[in-house]
Amino acid sequence: MSATVKKHTPQDFIFKQELGHGAYSTVYKALDKRNLKKAYAIKVCSKNHIIKENKVKYVNIEKNTLNLLGKTNHPGIIKLYYTFHDKQNLYFVLDYAKGGELLSLLHIQTNGTFDELYSKHFMVQIIDTLEYIHSCGIIHRDLKPENLLLDKWGKLMITDFGAASPPANMSTCSSFVGTAEYVSPELLLFNQCKFASDVWALGCILYQFINGTPPFRGENELKTFEKIVSLDYPWNNNNNNLLLHPNNNTANLTNPQIINLTRKILTLNPNDRITIPNIKLHPWFNDINWQDKDSIWRGIWQ
Ligand code: ADE
Repeated sequence: MSATVKKHTPQDFIFKQELGHGAYSTVYKALDKRNLKKAYAIKVCSKNHIIKENKVKYVNIEKNTLNLLGKTNHPGIIKLYYTFHDKQNLYFVLDYAKGGELLSLLHIQTNGTFDELYSKHFMVQIIDTLEYIHSCGIIHRDLKPENLLLDKWGKLMITDFGAASPPANMSTCSSFVGTAEYVSPELLLFNQCKFASDVWALGCILYQFINGTPPFRGENELKTFEKIVSLDYPWNNNNNNLLLHPNNNTANLTNPQIINLTRKILTLNPNDRITIPNIKLHPWFNDINWQDKDSIWRGIWQ
């Protein structure tokens, strides 16, 4: 005899404010009616919209990927608790990230930048999580500061697996998904997306932490793409030490190790790009003990 598990419905939750929205979904804060202390983030996807926009595939990818990644409880991955649907919508009940988007934290910092200590702290958490995601055979494909959330302690969580590639297709996948500024040259030039393409986005994020804007940004998407494929960004020159800050044009001394690491990541050929194990061995991370998960996973508000 099998026990029937009651499926959740929207009536089980009290929907609160909107937290954000994407191309085919809106995320709301919601409270569990049986335990009002428990907050979730519920991603609501309109069935009509998904079908009309041909996004059924992406919604299924997101669900399967989160189900797969969520099982091992990695601290850096947003957890999927339940999914259910009604006539109009699909619902994903996710961890509520009380600290919001890392991007908002960047915006309240001077010039939209983090200092070296904060940049390293967040990079370490992203790298640890990305290594885990890749070890499950999954490519995120849309890493960017908007997809990095913070929990109530200020620990980082990666979200939005709607563009991820499923493990069935391990090493490469094709077709453009993602965000112009963080997209890799191999995707633009050869319609290829590899594990190394997530590493490319990591380099763009590191550059943005330090400088306040992504490395490749044109007046429109096409100009941005042209900059990416020609590796046209301010740190791609031989001037290692004295760099003009993009926001205020004052000379800004950036740690040469950060510039060195960024250059090793932002390498056009994905086969020559530094890999995650070698990033962890880079001198900028000499003071990090990658085995010590407790010290890596400290929150900034703890
Ligand atoms: N914005 C988008 N997803 C979110 C989540 N899971 N928690 C908090 N804010 C979000």
